[in-house]
Amino acid sequence: MCGITGYIGYRKAYPIVINGLKRLEYRGYDSAGIMMYDGKNIHLSKTKGKVVDLEKIIEKTPLKKEGNIGIGHTRWATHGVPNDVNSHPHVSQSGNLIIVHNGIIENYDTLKKELIKRGYTFKSDTDTEVLINLIEEVKKQENCKLGKAVQLALTNVIGAYAIAVFDKTKPNEIIVARLGSPIAIGVGKENSEFFIASDASPFVEYTKNVIYLDDEELAIIKLGKGISVRKITDDRLVDTNIEELKMSLDQIEKGGYDHFMLKEIHEQPKAIIDTYRGRMLADEGIIKMAGVDDNIEKFLNANRIIIVACGTSWHAGLVAEYLFEDLARIPVEVEYASEFRYRNPIISEKDIVIAISQSGETADTLAAIKLAKSRGAFVFGVCNVVGSSIARETDAGAYTHAGPEIGVASTKAFTTQITVLSLIALKLGKENGSLSKSAFHSYLQTMQLIPSKIEKLLQLDTKIKEIAAVYKDSRNCLYLGRGFNFPVALEGALKLKEISYVHAEGYPAAEMKHGPIALIDHNMPIYVIATKKGHYEKVVSNIQEIKARSGKIIAIVTEGDTLVKQIADHVIEIPETEEAFTPLLTTIPLQLLSYYIALMLGKNVDQPRNLAKAVTVE
Ligand code: AGP
Repeated sequence: MCGITGYIGYRKAYPIVINGLKRLEYRGYDSAGIMMYDGKNIHLSKTKGKVVDLEKIIEKTPLKKEGNIGIGHTRWATHGVPNDVNSHPHVSQSGNLIIVHNGIIENYDTLKKELIKRGYTFKSDTDTEVLINLIEEVKKQENCKLGKAVQLALTNVIGAYAIAVFDKTKPNEIIVARLGSPIAIGVGKENSEFFIASDASPFVEYTKNVIYLDDEELAIIKLGKGISVRKITDDRLVDTNIEELKMSLDQIEKGGYDHFMLKEIHEQPKAIIDTYRGRMLADEGIIKMAGVDDNIEKFLNANRIIIVACGTSWHAGLVAEYLFEDLARIPVEVEYASEFRYRNPIISEKDIVIAISQSGETADTLAAIKLAKSRGAFVFGVCNVVGSSIARETDAGAYTHAGPEIGVASTKAFTTQITVLSLIALKLGKENGSLSKSAFHSYLQTMQLIPSKIEKLLQLDTKIKEIAAVYKDSRNCLYLGRGFNFPVALEGALKLKEISYVHAEGYPAAEMKHGPIALIDHNMPIYVIATKKGHYEKVVSNIQEIKARSGKIIAIVTEGDTLVKQIADHVIEIPETEEAFTPLLTTIPLQLLSYYIALMLGKNVDQPRNLAKAVTVE
C-alpha cells in the first residue's frame, strides 16, 4: 500500500511530484523515490526513509529537479526490505522504461525465472523490477507500442497493482493501469497537463477534473492529445468519466495542529454534523438516506445483516451489531473481512452485507464484497473516500462525510461510521415498528446533541494529558467495556497499540475473570468504561475485582458519578446520553489518551511504524 504520483505537462514537475508524495506518505513511508525527465535525460533519485530524506538528497544535485515530466513513489515494503536498491522507481534492463508500482505481483518469482532464462539480471528483490522487465520483454517480442506492451504484460500477472510507466524513448506519454489498487488522474485544461496519483490529494490545487480508473483498466496519457482508457483483458476502449473533485486544500493540511490525528480528533463534532446533515431532520422526525430509502424493502425483508470490515471499521461494525439488534431487532453478524473471504461463508440473496471502510481501498474488504455479490447478497457500503473502489463496487451506500482522514490511526472515521450506522438502525427500527414514533423522535433529538457533548469532552485535554503522563511508561494495559462499549474498549486498545507500540488488549468486562485477570498487578493500568445506563452495577463489580488485585483503574464514567470515583485511581466524566450513543462519547478520551501517551513516548503519531492508512494488499 504505497503511494504513487506523477505529472506530465508544462509546469515544473518536481514540486508537484515531491509535494504529492508528502500528501500520500500516510500510505507508506519505508522509502521514497522519483524519476524526472528533463527533455533529454532521466534523473532517478531514491532512498530508504521518508520523502524529506529524499528531498535532502535531491537538493544536493539541483539538476535532478529539472523537467516537466516526473513520477514518484512512497513505499510500504512488501517484497524486499526497505533499502535504497528496493526503493522505487525501478528501471528496465535497457534503462529506457521506468515504473512506480503500488500492489503485489504474486507470481513474480515464476516470471523472474523466465526472464532470467532470457538474459535479464535483477538489482533488487522486488516484484516491481520483474514487472518492468516483463513489459520490456513483451515490447521487444511484440515490437509494439508501450501501451500495448503494458497491457499484454499485465495479462500474465497475478496480483494487485496500480502502476505508472514512462519510456524515455517516447517521452510525451505515461501509461497507468490498475487492478485492486487505486489510481486517480487529474485532467488539466485542453489536455495541457495531467496529474497521476493513488488518490486525488496531490493535485487538489491544480484541477477539479478527476478520472478514477476502474479495475482492469489501462490509460494511455498523451500530452496535448488526451487520455484513452482500455480494458486490460480484451483491449476494449472504455468511455472516460471525468468527475468533479470535492476535496479542498485546507482539508488536507494540519490547520495549525501539531498532528493530523489531533486535528482529526478535534474535527469530530463538525464531522458528525456533516454526516447527518440533510439525512437526519430531528424536528420533523425524519431520517432520509438515498442508499437505504431506494432499497428499503431489501433491508426490511432481509434475513440478517452481515457486516464485513477490518481494524477500526470492524469495531464500528461491532457497535452496529448492538445498534441494529437493539433498535431494529434485525440479526447481525460481524465478520473480519480477511477471514470471511476465505471461509466459504453461507450467504444468500436474502442477506444484506454492509461493508465498512474509511479508505474504501482495503483489499480484504473489497474481496469480501466481491464474494458476497457473487453469492447474490445485496452489498451496502459505508465509506469515507468519494470515488474509492469500495464505493464503486457496492450496490448502494452512504458516505461518512468526515473529510480526508490522513492520520494513520483512524478517529473521526470511527465516530462518523457509527453515526451513519446509527441513522440506518433508527430508520429501520421505525420502519419495521421495533421503535415507537416517540422513541424514534427522542433518539433523533438526543443524536443532535452529540456534537456539542463531544466539544465539551475535547476541553478535557489537560486532564487527559495528566493521566497520560502517569501511565505512559506502562508496557501492558487492558481496556474493558460492556454492551455498546465493549467495541469501544477494543478500539481504545487498538489506538494505543498502533501509535505508542504499548501492548494493550480490549475485553468484554465480564470476560476478564476468564483469564486476563491473571495479568493484573499494581503496574497494570486498566481503562474501564462504566457509563450509567450500560450494565453499570456489573461493571462496578468488575472494577472492585480489579481493585482487589491492586490494578490501576482509569474509569470513563457518566457526569455526576459518585460510586466509581471512590474506587478508581482516575475518572474521566462524559456527558449523559442514550446508552446506544455512548460509544460516540466514550471513545473521545481514549483517542486523546493514546495520542498523548504516544506523544510523550516520542512516537511518530501520524505515521506509526509498520502501518499505512490504506491496506491495499492482502
Ligand atoms: C485504524 O486506526 C487503522 N488505521 C486500521 O485498523 C484501519 O481501520 C483498517 O486498516 C481498515 O481501514 P479502512 O477503514 O480504510 O478499510
